[in-house]
Amino acid sequence: MKRTHLSLLTSVFLALFSVQAQEPMTAVVERGLSRAKHQAQFMANTLENTPDALPRTFEKGKLVTCKYNNWVSGFFPGVLWMLYEHYGDEELRRQAELFTSRVEPAKRMTNTHDLGFMLYCSFGHGYRLTGNEHYQQVIEEGTHSLLTRWNPKLGVMRSWDFNKKWQFPVIIDNMMNLEMLCYMSKHTGDRSFEKIACTHANTTIKNHFRKDYSTYHVVSYDTISGKPHVKNTHQGYADESAWARGQAWGLYGYTMMYRETGKKAYLKQARAIASFLVNHPNMPKDKVPYWDYNAPDIPNAKRDASAAAIMASALIELSQLDPSKDAALCLSFAQEQLRSLTTDAYLAKEGENGGFVLMHGVGHLPGKSEVDVPLTYADYYYVEALLRMKRLMERTDGVADHKE
Ligand code: GLY
Repeated sequence: MKRTHLSLLTSVFLALFSVQAQEPMTAVVERGLSRAKHQAQFMANTLENTPDALPRTFEKGKLVTCKYNNWVSGFFPGVLWMLYEHYGDEELRRQAELFTSRVEPAKRMTNTHDLGFMLYCSFGHGYRLTGNEHYQQVIEEGTHSLLTRWNPKLGVMRSWDFNKKWQFPVIIDNMMNLEMLCYMSKHTGDRSFEKIACTHANTTIKNHFRKDYSTYHVVSYDTISGKPHVKNTHQGYADESAWARGQAWGLYGYTMMYRETGKKAYLKQARAIASFLVNHPNMPKDKVPYWDYNAPDIPNAKRDASAAAIMASALIELSQLDPSKDAALCLSFAQEQLRSLTTDAYLAKEGENGGFVLMHGVGHLPGKSEVDVPLTYADYYYVEALLRMKRLMERTDGVADHKE
């Protein structure tokens, strides 16, 4: 009896002690941001004199770079802009300008849907922070290039041009390009851009999602009937599986579309995707998803830090847009993700990891490409999530810190 009493007291003490011992969220965020600044400037110095180079990943001890025409080209400039905004360091601004200029030729590309990622994550921040009209012109030209892929009959923008089995492939990632269209409507007053974004988002709700609100990766449309003729995966485990980053793109995409348009259907969609993800039985304890929620080798499957970072950023925003009881759950889930990402398990040490901030991303596992490596987009959404968390804590005077 006495022993039971004692062990009960011990567990209460341990529970209290572990709550108290948890690092304040403010400290987690500061540590993540200062590591990001160190790493980003290290990366910028490394690539400063390599013409046209933009970071992509770090594999087998070697930095892998790309040029403007890779879908990831805009993320590193975006990291530099976000850090410049936060720290106000003029050297960061110079570096942001330098690397942004390297992405500029992407504005003429008409063979990809990724122009929202490439241009809005780089020039978008640049224009917001400097008002440089040239940046706005680049976004405008890029938007017109992107819209060459819009098919009004199908109500979607085409994602890829490769692969003969798909007549008109649209991937869930494409939701992320809609933010640039919404921005263009706000900036120019021409509602047609936003109208296209809404039509694409509506068609995607109709055809990409399963009953449980998980999403297919690729839906290809029959250009005659206008209906999907095939639903596949490309980067996930199986056609019917839930590829982790794809789910995160969907969550982020509909949260962003609700913020931009105020349309309740997008809030409903974002909430349902969030619920599928935060309650998923295969979500690991540290909340950094396996690369695919249906990977056959769970619990030994690789984790994807990029999916966690995108998800955390989206959940923080959703928690602020969503007045429902689920808001607190979304926020505390995102906080746990940021805590996990900001430990030695995922956060690189200064000067290591090729200058990338996070380790352990999965790019394209079935293609045996970029598996368990740093990814420039993981860093982008990690920094964005940290800054969203910081602003939220400032607004609520640290209240967010106490919600866990
Ligand atoms: N948009 C490509 C990817 O998420 O890998």
